[in-house]
Amino acid sequence: MKDQLQKIYDEAQEMLAQAKNLEDIENIKLKYLSRKGELNSIKKNLKNLSDEDKKVVGAFANEVANNLENSVKEKYDIFYKQELDEKLKKEKIDVTLSGKYIPRGHVHPVTDTINEITEIFHALGFSLTTDENSPEVETEYFNFDMLNFPKDHPAKDMQDTFYTKTAPHVLLRSQTSGSQVRTMESMKLPIRVIDPGRVYRNENINSRKNNFFHQIEGLYVDKGVTFADLKGVLTEFLRIYFGSSRPTRFRSSYFPFTEPSVEIDVQCIMCHGKGCRTCSGTGWLEILGAGMVDVNVLKNCNIDPEVYSGFAFGMGVERLSMLKYAIDDIRLYFNNDQRFLEQF
Ligand code: DAH
Repeated sequence: MKDQLQKIYDEAQEMLAQAKNLEDIENIKLKYLSRKGELNSIKKNLKNLSDEDKKVVGAFANEVANNLENSVKEKYDIFYKQELDEKLKKEKIDVTLSGKYIPRGHVHPVTDTINEITEIFHALGFSLTTDENSPEVETEYFNFDMLNFPKDHPAKDMQDTFYTKTAPHVLLRSQTSGSQVRTMESMKLPIRVIDPGRVYRNENINSRKNNFFHQIEGLYVDKGVTFADLKGVLTEFLRIYFGSSRPTRFRSSYFPFTEPSVEIDVQCIMCHGKGCRTCSGTGWLEILGAGMVDVNVLKNCNIDPEVYSGFAFGMGVERLSMLKYAIDDIRLYFNNDQRFLEQF
């Protein structure tokens, strides 16, 4: 039995000497030193020996096992270090190499402008109305009737508004103002909200007009809201958005759903007020409609005009963006031309 043990030991040492990598070492461990390995299967036979022999052979078997374990460990450490070194060498990175350019995307300039304006109005105390209050496919009822448009108003004409064929009186909203009505009907007073969204108009497309664009609607209804509040909030908005040196003006106007009504113009960025093609020679561009919410609209929404008053406004997002960045063609926003989009 001693000879057998010696033979196994020599064999194992021979294999160790020839081992080339960690995997070989693992295999040697498995073959000789594991629970089902060759050394153990011999040890199992010890019980058949006399007590005298058991002692001697048992001691020898342990010695062989210890020696083998030590040799295996020694080799294992060598290969482990070798393989680690190789791996580290392979994974070494040259930090002086120039980087690979990975283009980064960004939000669309329209989204960017909406975000910027939304933040300004947040700071002024306005929150967003709900999505349910702002559907793009709208009814004539919310888009026109509840907003005090007379039955024969030209805006209701198919020439100006896209009607759907699926149902009568269902249209693509021509303005975000319908959300005012939905908001007043669904939210508790006081209300101070804005609502950015897309609107559609049956227009001949040119550099100033597209058949869809974006608006941001605003609505503030509370006890004692006055025209001074309207002027204060919108003047502050213009100052933050355009900077204090940009000339703006309030001009009296008319909308069916506000009384009195105003429009706000911003000096043309192309000609600085001198008059050019973009501003049709006037030096000004209209960006915003606003006014005190008409008594009839409040009544339509079951709000008592004797107790409450409010102001509303609606602005064109692309217009505001064009006037900030001196862009003279609205179609650029929707052509998906990278050369344009990458500039933002
Ligand atoms: N909805 C109007 C338009 O599309 C803009 C507007 C004017 C909105 C006055 C308002 C407002 O809320 O009070 O031209």
